[in-house]
Amino acid sequence: MSKTIPRSGVRTQRVAIAIMAAGKGTRLKSKHPKVLHEVGGKPILSHVIETASKLVPASDIFVIIGHEAELVRAAVGDSGVQFVVQGEQRGTGHALMVAKESLAPYDQVIVLSGDAPLITSETIDKLSAFHASQKAAMTLLSADLDDPTGYGRVIRKGRKSADVRAIVEEKATNAQQKKIREINSGFYAFSVPTLYKHIGSLKTDNAHREYYLTDMAAVLGNAKQRVVAMKTPSSAEVLGSNKRAEIVEVDARMRLAKCLKLMDEGVTIFYPQTCVIDSDVEVGADTVIEPFVQLRGKTKVGADCRIRSYSVINNTEIGDEVVVLPGCVMDDSRIARKATIGPYSRLRPGSDIGEGAHLGNFVETKKIKLGKGSKANHLTYLGDTEIGDGVNVGAGTITCNYDGVHKHKTVIEDGVFVGSDSTLVAPVRIGKGAYIAAASCITEDVPADSLALGRARQTVKEGWVNAKKSKK
Ligand code: UD1
Ligand code: CA
Repeated sequence: MSKTIPRSGVRTQRVAIAIMAAGKGTRLKSKHPKVLHEVGGKPILSHVIETASKLVPASDIFVIIGHEAELVRAAVGDSGVQFVVQGEQRGTGHALMVAKESLAPYDQVIVLSGDAPLITSETIDKLSAFHASQKAAMTLLSADLDDPTGYGRVIRKGRKSADVRAIVEEKATNAQQKKIREINSGFYAFSVPTLYKHIGSLKTDNAHREYYLTDMAAVLGNAKQRVVAMKTPSSAEVLGSNKRAEIVEVDARMRLAKCLKLMDEGVTIFYPQTCVIDSDVEVGADTVIEPFVQLRGKTKVGADCRIRSYSVINNTEIGDEVVVLPGCVMDDSRIARKATIGPYSRLRPGSDIGEGAHLGNFVETKKIKLGKGSKANHLTYLGDTEIGDGVNVGAGTITCNYDGVHKHKTVIEDGVFVGSDSTLVAPVRIGKGAYIAAASCITEDVPADSLALGRARQTVKEGWVNAKKSKK
């Protein structure tokens, strides 16, 4: 990952990146700040910060926060970026006014919008290089959109000219300007000294009574400074997320791109439009993912696996050659190679499934270690349990790990056979190679190689039914 902007002309400049993230996101009608809404499984702003971090060190990234500033700071603080607080949000121009002192030591500032997470570092890099090569005071990234509604329109000085006369916000456009498909992306490069020499000329005579950063185009033009636009052919990269429908569209694009990337790396994903795969997920080659699978958080899936439909797998590490049958739910767990899980297994946090082990239908696990080649195939609850290698856990087995106040541990050593419908009342230990008779309630430790029976003896009353009937 390059930490400095590599293009010639920029290398000698000190470059900062400012990310505007102080707005409320009124159009979302949400109690959560806009930039913390999630796409691709994490906050919109986290994506923008990650992209910026590919270009400059975190210490040169300034995130402008305001609405719910502390929430935003807490959510992305780990990235090591700097924060500038815009106490009152008086517009995008005002956001940059507030950042004046932080940005003063730099030659160039690249301004990104905290609500547009599809932008790539390659495009930002090109914008920065174009800005330097044009010797402009302001360079904006523009794009042609089929539906430009809602975006500011770019008014160029001439058809072929890179020079821009003004940016007109949607609300201020006349009928002719509404037809302009070239929009302002909200990404800019500025010469820092020139920006701050003129930013005081911004006015609030507009629909929102705000200081628009977009008005810097006209302000700088009037001051005989050069303002240019660089049009990106990758128009989808500039999509913002002002409305719920836009967030969902950005999310869908991001996830489809993730699927395509995984497919390039050798993973087969059938009907990728139905799969939800978070940005940070890793999957090994020759793994096949069936429709309607969700891989969330920091999940890692090995090579040569098959993940069948309707499984939701979160923060779980899966080894090579694992088969996950349909309908499994997993959180914060680990599955070693060649294991088979499901259908309909539920792995709660701390489930550690050994090599070649089997978990079958309607088996719930929590904080367990299941040894190599061990099996729990049907209708079972295993919690706070350590199970050795080669153990067979019969259908309907329950570990009674909770006495109403405390959790207790069950230990099942190597080679144990637990008969069906047994209850193991913890704390309890079943010694190596022991057998538990079916339907036993085991309350005491079982020594190795012994048989434990813990159930009522069967009695048979012959002729009982007929006797009862004749009484009536
Ligand atoms: C802005 C541009 C518009 C452009 C569009 C691209 C202006 C006036 N308009 O419109 O030309 O087409 O982006 O997506 O800039 N923010 C602050 N402080 C504020 C106000 C906003 O930090 O006081 C932040 C917001 O959190 C957001 C970003 O700036 O992340 C952009 O603001 P937003 O209100 O979304 O601007 P748009 O209406 O989308
Ligand atoms: Ca926006």
